Amino acid sequence: MQIHETAFIVSTYRSYHEDISKDIYAELWNNPKTDTLIPSILETISKDEAILHSIRNRFFYEQMRSFFTKNNGGTLINFGSGFSMYQFLVEDNVSTIEIDKQDIIDYKKEKIDSWVLEGKLPYREIQYSAIDFNQRTEKEIIETLRPLIKNKPIFILLEGVLFFLDQNTTNKLFKVFKELQNPGDLVGSVSYLPEVKHTDVYNRLLKYFDSNNDTNDSFAHQTIPTSYYENIEGYLLKEHIDEFQLSKIYIPDSAFKDKNQILNENMYLLEKT
Ligand SMILES: C[S@@+](CC[C@H](N)C(=O)[O-])C[C@H]1O[C@@H](n2cnc3c(N)ncnc32)[C@H](O)[C@@H]1O
Repeated sequence: MQIHETAFIVSTYRSYHEDISKDIYAELWNNPKTDTLIPSILETISKDEAILHSIRNRFFYEQMRSFFTKNNGGTLINFGSGFSMYQFLVEDNVSTIEIDKQDIIDYKKEKIDSWVLEGKLPYREIQYSAIDFNQRTEKEIIETLRPLIKNKPIFILLEGVLFFLDQNTTNKLFKVFKELQNPGDLVGSVSYLPEVKHTDVYNRLLKYFDSNNDTNDSFAHQTIPTSYYENIEGYLLKEHIDEFQLSKIYIPDSAFKDKNQILNENMYLLEKT
């Protein structure tokens, strides 16, 4: 499996539970190849993956909507944006900068431009930037992005990406965020806690990636303790919640009973000081 395929999978998950994810445009990315991959993932790793990713999307959807409503617009910078569609779910006074690897960015821009022309998507102010976070320096990333930021304040999103990066690249990204943002701006981030390594479900996930990695598209399997977020220079940890807890809010009738049975990701909201 190539990393970009994970972006299609996550987007398809959101389309299965539009009422929870609130991503009414996710289905535009659905395709037969991803449709054939998903049943075996749900069977061999965990049947709850689609709903968990929808809960994750819902959390950031609510956070960014309240941030942009309070500030009457601004800029969303989505690092490792994959096929996420928040830019169309927020008001049109929000500009978006989408950042991902070249192949994703080229494909996403082409498809979105044509869907806007066809009237399948509303018009939004969107800029695209192809950056490989492992390969570009802190300075290069800042110099690429700074001229693209036209509106403030800034909400930065790093969703579903840290699992694929190592600690050095993660540190580099938070230094970039600190340079781009002003006090009061927010970062939303997602990662696994190190203790997830002791769960069967996480080991099934790693095994799945290892046995389906046909491309040497290697990645880090990063986990991050909450103390990392508590000690990021220039940021205050405002909120920390996991999908297990969020299930009680967004799917109260079928909330999860045991956090060790699910791939329980942790959501963090940091405020620039
Ligand atoms: C699982 S997808 C998540 C996409 C999206 N954020 C979401 O939640 O739907 C992971 C994304 O991270 C991107 N990514 C992984 N490593 C990256 C890197 N080194 N540089 C830039 N993007 C990267 C992938 O291309 C992919 O789009």
